[in-house]
Amino acid sequence: MAAREIKSGIYWAGVHHWDRRLFDELIPLPDGTTYNAYLVKGSEKTALIDSADPVKEDELIANLQNLGIERIDYVISNHAEQDHSGGIPKVLTTYPDAKVVTNPKCKTMLMDLLLIPEQKFIVVNDKDTLPLGDKTLEFIIAPWVHWPETMLTYSREDEILFPCDLFGSHLATSDLYAVDEARVYEAAKRYYAEIMMPFRNNIQKHLKRLQEYKIEIIAPSHGPLHNRPDFILDAYRDWTSDNVKNEVILPYVSMHGSTEKMVKYFIEALIQKGITVKPFNLTKTDIGELAVALVDAATIVIATPTVLVGPHPAAVYATYLANALRPKAKYASVIGSYSWGGKMLDQITSMLGNLKVELIPPVIIKGYPKTSDFKALERLAEDILQKHKELKLL
Ligand code: FEO
Repeated sequence: MAAREIKSGIYWAGVHHWDRRLFDELIPLPDGTTYNAYLVKGSEKTALIDSADPVKEDELIANLQNLGIERIDYVISNHAEQDHSGGIPKVLTTYPDAKVVTNPKCKTMLMDLLLIPEQKFIVVNDKDTLPLGDKTLEFIIAPWVHWPETMLTYSREDEILFPCDLFGSHLATSDLYAVDEARVYEAAKRYYAEIMMPFRNNIQKHLKRLQEYKIEIIAPSHGPLHNRPDFILDAYRDWTSDNVKNEVILPYVSMHGSTEKMVKYFIEALIQKGITVKPFNLTKTDIGELAVALVDAATIVIATPTVLVGPHPAAVYATYLANALRPKAKYASVIGSYSWGGKMLDQITSMLGNLKVELIPPVIIKGYPKTSDFKALERLAEDILQKHKELKLL
C-alpha cells in the first residue's frame, strides 16, 4: 500500500502483512499485522522512524522512493526487535548518508542483532531532541514496552506520538485510523495481553509520564493510528489498573472424561453463583483468546488430569503461559483427576511463581467424580464467590 500523509510533511510509509498468521512462531495473528514506518520531512532534514520486518523491506523502500525521497538524514530506531529494525540495513544501503538515531541500549542491541557498524549511530538520551528545521523530534526513554531498550518519539510541532509497540495492534486494515473502534479494541486488547501485559507496572508509570505531552495523534508501529488518543489511552488505563472482574478463567484438558465431567459441573456451579466463567479447551483454543481473558479476571482455575506422574503437557503449556504473562489475577486453584497418584498439583502450583495469587484449596480426585467430589467442587465455587465478594466484585 502506498504511503499516506498524516500531516504536512509526515507520512505513514509502512507495510501491510495481510496474511501473516504467527508472530515469534508463537502468537496467532488472526488479522495479520502491519509494520508502520513513518517519514518526517522537516524544512532541513528528513527522518525515518523505524523500518519494517526484513521480509517486507523492499516494499518499505518502494514506498520511500514513490514519495520521491532522495535523501534520509536520520533513521530513528525506537525498538531493536527485528519487525521494526530488520529493514534498517537495507535503508542504510539505499540511503548511505543516513545515521541511526537511538539510545545507548538500543544501539548495542542493533549492533548485536543486525551487525550495524558503530560509526553509523547517533546516540540520544531521555528528553533529547533532534531538530529537522521546522520540525523537532523528542525522545522519551520508556524501558520494557516491550524490550528493555524501548523509546518513544514525539513530534513537538505536530503533537504526534510514535510509541512503537505500545498502543499497537496486530490488525492489517486499509483504514489509516482506528475507525472501527470495536474491532480495534479487540485487536489492541489481544495485543496488550500477548505483548504488553507482563510489563503492566512499567506501563502504568509511562502512562503517567505521557500526561506531560499534548498528543493529537498516536502513531504506533502495528495496526491503525489513533486520532482520538483517549480511546486507546483509556483502554490502557483500564487494562493496566489493579481492578479485576468477577470472572474465572478455566483452561482445561481431559483425557478420558473425568476432568471434563468436573469442569462441566464446576462451570454450572460458578454460573449459579453469579460468577462469569470462561472455559478454554486447551486442545482446541487459540492461546491469544486465553491471553485476552487473563487481562481482567480475578481468578484462574487450571483443570488437568494426571499423565504419568504430572500434569497434562497442554496444561503445563497454559500454566507456563499464564505465569509468563503475569496477569493481575488475585486467586488461583486447580482441579483434576488421577488414577494412581503423582505430583500433578505440586508441579502446577510450582509454576505460578510470577503471579501474586492466593491459592484456594484445590479439588484433586481419584478416578471418575462421585457425589463427594461434586460437593468439593461446590465448596470451591463457594470459596471463589466469597473471595470475589471480599473484593466487592459482585
Ligand atoms: Fe513489534 Fe516488540 O516488536
